[in-house]
Amino acid sequence: MNDARKSSSEPIISLRGVEKSFGQQQVLRGVDLDVPEGTTTIIVGASGQGKSVIVKHMLGLVKPDRGLVKVYGEDLNRVKPRRLKEIRTTFGVLFQNVALFDSMTVFDNVALPLRERTRLSEQEIRARVLEKLALMDMDGADEKFPAQLSGGMRKRVGLARALMLDPKVIFFDEPTTGLDVNKSNELYRLFFHTQQQLKYSAVIVSHDVPKIFKLADYVALLADGIIQGCLSPEEFQLSEQPEIRAFVRETMGALYYSDLEERGLYEEVQS
Ligand SMILES: Nc1ncnc2c1ncn2[C@@H]1O[C@H](COP(=O)(O)OP(=O)(O)O)[C@@H](O)[C@H]1O
Ligand SMILES: [Mg+2]
Repeated sequence: MNDARKSSSEPIISLRGVEKSFGQQQVLRGVDLDVPEGTTTIIVGASGQGKSVIVKHMLGLVKPDRGLVKVYGEDLNRVKPRRLKEIRTTFGVLFQNVALFDSMTVFDNVALPLRERTRLSEQEIRARVLEKLALMDMDGADEKFPAQLSGGMRKRVGLARALMLDPKVIFFDEPTTGLDVNKSNELYRLFFHTQQQLKYSAVIVSHDVPKIFKLADYVALLADGIIQGCLSPEEFQLSEQPEIRAFVRETMGALYYSDLEERGLYEEVQS
């Protein structure tokens, strides 16, 4: 990642003082978060803290009670519905329950965004769909139906579909739910591989913190309704901030220590 570009350009997504309650329950208490262009930010935090609610704000699906949600420098709550729709066409979304249509083939599932949003010829659609499936190591699966695929393959079809309109920003909300460690890592490997080629920015919500998380540019911890810190993975792991330390200890303990060991820091930390 080019650091000069990172610091010079305006963030592609920016949240300021975002507060959100549902009934009596205040979920977000003043969330500040920037996603610099071309980078990947992982939002972590315990279940029920409001990670998905943050993503829904970024997608313009939920309005903040207070605070500002900006995408491409535009206040999402002030743009016209038509503009919001336009902005959304630049998003690729992959949620926990990959909603593939069971009655449609893999090909038709992946082709759907192109058929709905573009006027490309069938020939052009075919070329693009097969290209994205190849990118996902899914060559030859186009005539299959979702029920014939493994969980990992279904997620990859979901990823291919999310990438279909060449999005500027990809949103992943716990995309590896239900996959074992190997399959999860494989999905993330494909994700980071395609990101290098397609250069999108990404927001990933993850409760499990896979080893691959080190490939992200930033890790943001949501706890008690605020972002406790948004740091590089290295800074995050070594942070002295109490909430981050507690999270690292509880959730990432094994990974953390195996890492330090590799770097010869283990004894230093123990003493
Ligand atoms: N539309 C909604 N209506 C009422 N409560 C909601 C709604 N969306 C989220 N919540 C509540 O907000 C809290 C945070 O939810 P969520 O963002 O899904 O957590 P996370 O993704 O961190 O696990 C939960 O207690 C959830 O029940
Ligand atoms: Mg969630």
